[in-house]
Amino acid sequence: MKLTIVGGGSTYTPELIDGLVRVRDRLDVSEVALQDVSAGRLDVLAAMSRRMLAVGDHPAVVTTHTGLAPAAEGADVVLVQLRVGGQAARLQDETLPLRCDCLGQETTGAGGLAKALRTVPVMLDVAERVRAVNPSAWLIDFTNPVGIVTRALLQAGHRRVVGLCSAAVVFQRHFARVLDVDPSRLALDHVGLNHLTWERRVLLDGEDVLPRLLGEYGEKVAPATGLPVDLVRRLGTVPSYYLHYYYAHDEVVAGQKANGVRAQEVMEIEGRLLEAYADPSVTAKPELLTRRGGAFYSEAALDLMASLRDGDGRTHVVNLRNGSALPFLSADSVIEVPATVGADGPVALPVAPVEPLLSGLIAHVTAYEHLALEAAVHGGRDRVFRALLAHPLVGRHAVADRLTDSLLEANRAYLPWA
Ligand code: G6P
Repeated sequence: MKLTIVGGGSTYTPELIDGLVRVRDRLDVSEVALQDVSAGRLDVLAAMSRRMLAVGDHPAVVTTHTGLAPAAEGADVVLVQLRVGGQAARLQDETLPLRCDCLGQETTGAGGLAKALRTVPVMLDVAERVRAVNPSAWLIDFTNPVGIVTRALLQAGHRRVVGLCSAAVVFQRHFARVLDVDPSRLALDHVGLNHLTWERRVLLDGEDVLPRLLGEYGEKVAPATGLPVDLVRRLGTVPSYYLHYYYAHDEVVAGQKANGVRAQEVMEIEGRLLEAYADPSVTAKPELLTRRGGAFYSEAALDLMASLRDGDGRTHVVNLRNGSALPFLSADSVIEVPATVGADGPVALPVAPVEPLLSGLIAHVTAYEHLALEAAVHGGRDRVFRALLAHPLVGRHAVADRLTDSLLEANRAYLPWA
């Protein structure tokens, strides 16, 4: 099988290669085609990938491409992990909103909108060009904001698209460590939107152990949410880390103003990772990579690829069209829930009714995502303003107006209409 990685020059590529070596019995990849707009990054990541495959005695060849068509031709799966504007744009997304006392985050709030505006047109173009040479390839989107990007692609008529995030797999591993069991014995009742999810049940061999995780193990579970343990217990669910940007917004903003934002840390980590990758004596995924949020995403990605290829109907948490799964959202919304994955793609498992504490915020953010997509596809200052006004973390007209101006100003190079 041929796997194409768009954004192959990303510092995450060794994460995927490491996974390929580990799951070689399940996924017989014979070619990894790395595509990137930066030839320099491609060279470094290709050399690192080849060393890792050689040490792992994996037979796959690595090819490099700056053009998309040759990279995608003949691929079974095209995985997209690109970042328009690199970490420099992320730094702006995370710092500009702070001037208005709003959260500085790359996918949540105003920063997430800026990222969507830059990214959606590029992703639509990538998907179109992949389809032109290879209409049967599956496109797995790990590019943020995953929910909005997946919705954009589905809305544009790309049917072989699945949105992927590592959040559920990270929780599954964390709970498994806390309970000291194999992760494969755990299934999550995970519901919401990308970066806006809650674990409502954690099934260990079919038995719900969430009460134990919240009670006996609460002190170990809560830190992964960024929230105090007594709050997590009162919620009765395990909210994703991204929920603390809502439930503890003002404290997070104060912390960001005092201590800086995540982009600064990531820039430092990436610099050191690239140095390591360029060193011919480095043949394994550096420990430093575990300090990135998506450190374990290869597990989710490669498992998903195996199901798409084999049509085995196994369950994966993915981003997909809502249909009738969450009846309080429109059918064309994109949700993140467990789904069985066959050769025709994911089908959401039935979702238990969602309580108002969750459904209110899910509906609110879905409306924002709809308006964000309108702004990203059609452009226009007013559409950007409306999306910000609809976001629960902005929502005030004067702030929305100020943010609109600063986001458009900062992103002009990426937005031909601005
Ligand atoms: C998690 C999320 C990803 C996000 C990453 C951020 O893995 O699921 O969507 O990109 O964290 O990690 P970073 O190291 O870039 O802050």
